[in-house]
This record gives sequence, structure tokens and C-alpha cells, in this order.
Amino acid sequence: MSDAYRDASLPLAQRVDDLLGRMTLAEKVGQLNQVPDRPPWSDRIEQLARDGQVGSRLLASSAYAGSDPQNLSSVEALNAVQRVAVEQSRLGIPLIHGRDVIHGFRTITPIPLAQAASWDAALVEAANRDAAREATAAGVHWTFAPMVDIARDGRWGRIAEGYGEDPHLAGVMAAAAVRGFQGPNLADGQSLLACAKHYVGYGAAEGGRDYNATEISDTTLRNVYIPPFASAVAAGCGSVMSGFHTIGGEPTSGSHYLLTELLKGELGFGGFVVSDWGSVWQLMDQGLAADRREAAELGFTAGVDMDMCSEVYLEHLVAAVEAGRVSRERLDDAVRRILHAKFALGLFEHPYTDTGRAAKVILAPEHRARARQLAAESIVLLKNRDGVLPLAADLKHIALVGPLAETTGSLLGCWAPGGRAEDVVSLRQGLQAATDAEIFCNTDQADVMINLARKSDLVVLALGEHSWRSGENQCIQTLALPEGQEPLIEALARQGKPLVVVICAGRPIACPLAERLADAVLFAWHGGVEAGHALADVLTGKTSPAGRLPVSVPSSVGQVPIHYNRLRFGRWQNPKDGRYIDGPTEPLYPFGFGLSYTSFAYDDLRVSPERAGLGQTVEVSVQLTNTGGREGTELVQLYVRDCVAQIVRPERELKAFARVTLGPGQSRRVSFPLGFEQLSYSGRDGQRRLDAGEFLVWVGPDSRATLQGRFEIVQCKGGAALTLRPSL
Ligand code: NOJ
Repeated sequence: MSDAYRDASLPLAQRVDDLLGRMTLAEKVGQLNQVPDRPPWSDRIEQLARDGQVGSRLLASSAYAGSDPQNLSSVEALNAVQRVAVEQSRLGIPLIHGRDVIHGFRTITPIPLAQAASWDAALVEAANRDAAREATAAGVHWTFAPMVDIARDGRWGRIAEGYGEDPHLAGVMAAAAVRGFQGPNLADGQSLLACAKHYVGYGAAEGGRDYNATEISDTTLRNVYIPPFASAVAAGCGSVMSGFHTIGGEPTSGSHYLLTELLKGELGFGGFVVSDWGSVWQLMDQGLAADRREAAELGFTAGVDMDMCSEVYLEHLVAAVEAGRVSRERLDDAVRRILHAKFALGLFEHPYTDTGRAAKVILAPEHRARARQLAAESIVLLKNRDGVLPLAADLKHIALVGPLAETTGSLLGCWAPGGRAEDVVSLRQGLQAATDAEIFCNTDQADVMINLARKSDLVVLALGEHSWRSGENQCIQTLALPEGQEPLIEALARQGKPLVVVICAGRPIACPLAERLADAVLFAWHGGVEAGHALADVLTGKTSPAGRLPVSVPSSVGQVPIHYNRLRFGRWQNPKDGRYIDGPTEPLYPFGFGLSYTSFAYDDLRVSPERAGLGQTVEVSVQLTNTGGREGTELVQLYVRDCVAQIVRPERELKAFARVTLGPGQSRRVSFPLGFEQLSYSGRDGQRRLDAGEFLVWVGPDSRATLQGRFEIVQCKGGAALTLRPSL
């Protein structure tokens, strides 16, 4: 135990410095190299490990890891290569194993967009904790999640992977996911290093087409796209992934401004930045680098610490440092960040995975129970005419029809490389287990479905898209249900039986027809292994629906990009201006919308004080009453408008929310504190500021909330701004 870096009792920074001091230039560059489990890399992984030429192993065999089957090496095989790194390389630095554990490992939970629809941060944290427990048992140390890209365009397939359109909600979810993955102690053997991605603005890809260019102003970047990253960083997220895309002609994986100045500088991010798969090498494709050497130097100098899968760092950085084109300080900084993560994960003390743990934790009953609760909480009730739901207890026959009625694999969601179709409870299985009614099922013949409907007391029509139609590189033009599904709605609605339409999808599908013709509409996303049970829980009323939309659902694809927090324009208050003349301008369902089986009243909004100054907090409260006949959970949402500011501010922005469960007739006052954090924004110069003047505030059930209050931020010492903070 003479090497200080091996001494676990020493402070982590000291261990990092000690190890760094012993490393050769080549060994340092080796730590920046991540190789996938795909030939030709995988064929020589042992040799690279022995030579100190690899820092991380990516447990994926293709660049589209979400939608391709991904074989995961056995724990024994992972340990064997790790043993080479630890026992046969000069310094014995362990590898860090990364894998996309995005919404569950084997116990697949609902897609992240659905998780956001639960608005239940504690549950999201717990579910990601379960995922970490399972993944670590399989030898994974590091996940490439959470994906925190704000998305306003449902055509973009990757909208499924993130938390929707709102910076505040996404920020809350991002922090919850980081806490869940990383746990209270990264070194406890059950925690994964988290990775916030895809830094930054990836969701704004032009035309909703994956990997494409974006145009985002600096103020929009800082007020919309950065906040969820800032929230992940504040929660201690250990790594960040740079994106494939460009902003204003600058690739995010080659941007010194975004990576070094903003992320590592202003946001104080102390972890390491990994590129996306080949995104440094792609600087050539983007026309910024003439060859692999230039790409390596550009990406590294910009701030990408680890190169995922292109090996350009391995090929060129030693020479670049020797020639003085890349500084030794920059190299040491990158290596220090990566080593820090490895020490923090306890990999030097426990490099190997216990081969017996997986059997105990994978698909553990408590993980499945949590997946079920999260799936149920994520389901959004969009329509419920005459209280057709919950299902009456005396129903004798239910027709459960439509292409998704019996499916399993298509409910897994777009990032489930460890998921198995046989683990999934289908809608049919779930409903059958929950009701005494006889279930008639058909998935593919319209005439049979119609006959079954005629014989039944009620029809549940399960529509939507397969997981494969969502996720990476799965972008669509229409935003409607897949072909052939809308005619089923029309045909079944004509049968005169109560019609419940369930839509399972990875994106906000536009379906005004269901809204018009069905008695009830439920949005059930891709719910994971417990999707069927969860849907049955909601249909039967065992769980009162409490999901709320994390994205606006447009009435047609022509409305995208769409989001509720629009910037005001000159004539925005005139309903005739800035509208479409050939169709609705408002979304079919607004952000934050969702019904429950009971009803709630909002009254008596109070704001105190109505004039606030420096350092003060404004308290906004409402009286919430359950006015219906059942217990229910309401999602109380607070929106703010900054009436006069230095730059144009949105019509309204979500600033706080609370999940409140009340029994019939019960009432409670719900309050929210608003301080600098909630009221400030990033101004023209990128500085966070809060201007004196009027603010309007609304509290209600969705982004159209009408119960309104106002307060004023008073001018301080003659200055325009109440206070300024030097950084975001
Ligand atoms: C490419 C994807 O864009 C990214 O999200 C993922 O984490 C990596 N591949 C690794 O599989």
C-alpha cells in the first residue's frame, strides 16, 4: 500500500493528484478513450486495457443502442477484462463501464416523457434508484441518463427520452433522476454515475429531424435549454454528454463557449464531458475539421474530455500535446475529471462485480411494484364524458380491441436494451386480472372488432405506435396515429357502445378524432413492464388518474413547434392576430392538462406581500377543495408572467407545482414561495437578473389557469434590477 492513490483513507483529490503524477502522456490520453463492444474495437479491448489505452468501455454494440438489440456481456466476461486493466496494466486503473440505462434496466419503467407526466419527483427518483440497483448488479457503473433536452416538436423521435417542453418540470425531473441514479453514496456498489445529455439544445433540431442543426439565441439557450442541465449539475451529476448537433453553425461537441465557458465555468460543472457516439470525429462531417487530427484537437480543446467511440483522441492527442497544440494543463484537467469519477465510484477498491447479485435484484418484486405505480401515475386522462370511467363494477363484457391490445414488446419504450417482451404485462393481461368481466380481444381485424363491440357493454380501443416508431432517429412527418387506426375509432364509435380510446405512444400524438368521437381518452405512453397492470389500475379506479401532460398536444402537425410558454409578440393579446386561418391555433390539450375522477375547485388566491423588495420571498397560496365524490390527486400548478423586463419574456411560465391528495369534500390551502430563483431570468448579457415591476401569477390545474393574482417587485436603490448574480 505504498502508492498514495491506492489508499482509500486519503482525500479523493490527493489520490487523483498522486495518480496523475505517475502517469505517462500516453496513459493520460488512454483515459480519454471510450471503446464500444463492437468489432474491431471489442476484439482488442484486452490489449488496450493492458496497455493503458482505454479509460472506459461502452456496453453497446451499435450507435443506435436504443432501437437495436444490445447484447450485454456477462458479469464474468466484464470482470475478466477489468482484471486485465487492474492487474496487468502498469498503474492498474480500472475501466468505467457505461451503458444506456434510460428508463429501467431489466425492470423497464415508463419512458422519461411519461415519467415527467407523473410530476412525481420522489417516485421518479425511486424508480431510477431501482434501475441503478439492477444495472450495477450486471456490471454497469455509468448510465447515459438523464436526457434533459427540452423538446417542443413531437416529430422528433427523441422527445420520448426527455421530460418534455418545460424547463422547470424538466429541471425537477433531472435532479430527481440524478439523485436516483447516483444515490446517497456513489461508492456503495448500487449507484450509477449519471450523465445529463445531450448538451445542449439538441431538441430544437430543425424540422424535428434527428442530429440536425439548430438555431437558438443565447437568451433562449440560457432561459429554456440550459436550466435542466443546471439543475442536473446542481444535483451533483457526474458527467455530461455533448450533442451531435450544431447551434448557429457551431457544433456543440466543438464549442469552447458551451462546454468550457458556460458548463464548466459558469455552471461550475466539476464532472467530465463525454462526446456522443463519434460526435468529435463528426466535426469532420460538419466541415469544421479537415481530418481526424483536427477533429481531435478541436473537440478536446473545446472541452470534450472523453471521446466516445471514434478513437481520434487516442490517435492524435499525444502528438498534439508534444507539439504544443494542446496544453498539458488541459490534458491534466480532463484526466483529473475522469479519475475523480472512478475514485468516487469506488472502482479502485471494488473494480469487479459480484456475480451473485443480479439474481437477487433483477426484476425484484419491489422494482416491479414501483414500475407499476409510476406507469399508473403517468397515465393522463384527457376526456371522460359522463363519467364513463372508472369502469362500472357490473360490466359483463368488455371488448378490448386495437393493434396495441395484446402487445408486449411495443410497450417497452424506445430505450430498453435490457428489456424483454416476455416481462411485459399486456393491456389484456392487466385488464383481465383486474375485472370479473369477460374480455373479448382482437388486434387486427376491423370487422371482428365491430362484432365484439356489439356483444360488449363497453369498448376499450388500444391505439398508438410501436416503441420502434419512437426514439433515436425515428422522426415522423405526420404526428398522427399510424395509418389505419383512425378509421377504427370511427367504426367503433358508430356501434353505440361507450368507447374508451387508449393511446400508447412515445410522443404527443395529435388525434382530434378521438377527442370528438370517444367517450373517454387516455394517454398511456410506453409504460414499460407493468404497462398493462397500470392501465387496469386507472381504468378500474384503483388509481385515480393524476398524470398531467408534460408537453402540449397539438391538434395537427402544422402547429409544431408548439409550447405553452411562448414569447409575447406585439399583438399577442388580440385573438385574431398571429393565428392560423385554416385550423385551430390552440393545442388540442394544453401543457399541464389532465383530468381526474373527482373535481377540484380553486379559490381565494392570496399573494403576500404584494410589494416585495430585495431578499424577500413572495408567498402565493390558494384554497383547493375536492368538490367531487371520490378521493383524488390534484396537480396544483403555479405560473408567472414578468410583465416588463429587459428582454421579451413568455406569456407565462411554470414556476412551482404540488401534488395534493384530498378526500371528497376535503379542502386545503396550498402555498408556494417565490424568490429570486423562481422570478429571475437570464438577461441580454447572460447574467441572471430580476427587474423591478409588476408580475402576474396564476394558480390552477393546467397552463390555462385563470385564477390570477399580482405583485410588484420594488425598485431598489434607484437601479432597475432588484439584484444581479454574476452567473447563471
Ligand atoms: C448515441 C445516443 O445519441 C446517446 O444518447 C447514447 O447515450 C449513445 N449513443 C450511447 O449509446
